[in-house]
Amino acid sequence: MELTPTKVQMIDLSRKEDGTNSTETFARDVAAGLGQSPKSLPSRYFYDAAGSKLFQDIMALPEYYLTRCEFKVLTENRQEIARHFANSSFFHLIDLGAGDALKTKILLRELDGQQSAFDYVPVDISGDAMRQLSDSLHREMPAVHVQAVVGEYFQALEWLHAHKSERKVVLFLGSNIGNFKPDESRNFLKTICSYLDPGDKLLVGVDLRKDPDTILSAYNDAAGVTAEFNLNLLRRINRELGGDFDLSQFRHYPIYNPHEGVMRSFLVSTQAQDVYIRDTGQTFHFDAWEAIHTENSHKYSMRQVEELGKACGFGIETVFQDDACGYADVLFTVT
Ligand code: AVJ
Repeated sequence: MELTPTKVQMIDLSRKEDGTNSTETFARDVAAGLGQSPKSLPSRYFYDAAGSKLFQDIMALPEYYLTRCEFKVLTENRQEIARHFANSSFFHLIDLGAGDALKTKILLRELDGQQSAFDYVPVDISGDAMRQLSDSLHREMPAVHVQAVVGEYFQALEWLHAHKSERKVVLFLGSNIGNFKPDESRNFLKTICSYLDPGDKLLVGVDLRKDPDTILSAYNDAAGVTAEFNLNLLRRINRELGGDFDLSQFRHYPIYNPHEGVMRSFLVSTQAQDVYIRDTGQTFHFDAWEAIHTENSHKYSMRQVEELGKACGFGIETVFQDDACGYADVLFTVT
């Protein structure tokens, strides 16, 4: 018999208050993205069950250095990071986009070992992921109190701001901030800041600028996993919205712009074609070699990171960095 562990609590904020469901929102975003010129699709839709599985495979690729680098940074600095997080007062450790929390567990083990006064609040849009994570943590670190939140980042932060008055430490790991355009990352950090109090902390994982060939390879792996990950977006539209994309007529095309420090991924239509999507009731025309922009992955300089924080109400407390890897976990404090 399966017993629900008493220490596992889940809060589901994922139901939309305006009555629209997630499929309707997806259909609306797809129609808007494919209806404009140049065409684009939001990268947040990569992560259905198949896409999340493909991203796990990406993280294990020899070319995808980001995950290994962050793992190294967190492992090598775990004691110092834990020291920065914990002082005498209780805190909530809020993990935005926690997923399987493989990297956060390095810090959780350290905090647990030091018997720090904290609870762990993983936040993710995937209810499945949050259930699995809660269960695995209950088995691996039974003393850690876990309260998983299923929902969007800002919903979760707003809820925490309204219901929890204790100190907060927010994690935004994995270079997820890279998916935001510069103005979006400013808005994101400003919003996070508005839900925090002076002295609260934010640890952000950022991929730093480096050899363009190293960056490009990470998004253009030899085994073609990243191509599958990108194409899965079309497969998801077919599956969930009744689209008739022929995946063999689209090609994964990633390109790095070293001037802007942006890795961009596209899906290029190899011929002229029309694609019908049942749920939007529309046909979308593609010219030969017309592209859909699907993702931005920004690479930062440390100067940019500093300026970004400063513009949003954060000061840098410490930078945990691996120079050989070109990856940093930056600890900000609300000023
Ligand atoms: C999860 C957003 C950090 O941009 O590197 C990996 C996603 N896309 N390969 C990234 C991704 C293609 C990844 N992030």
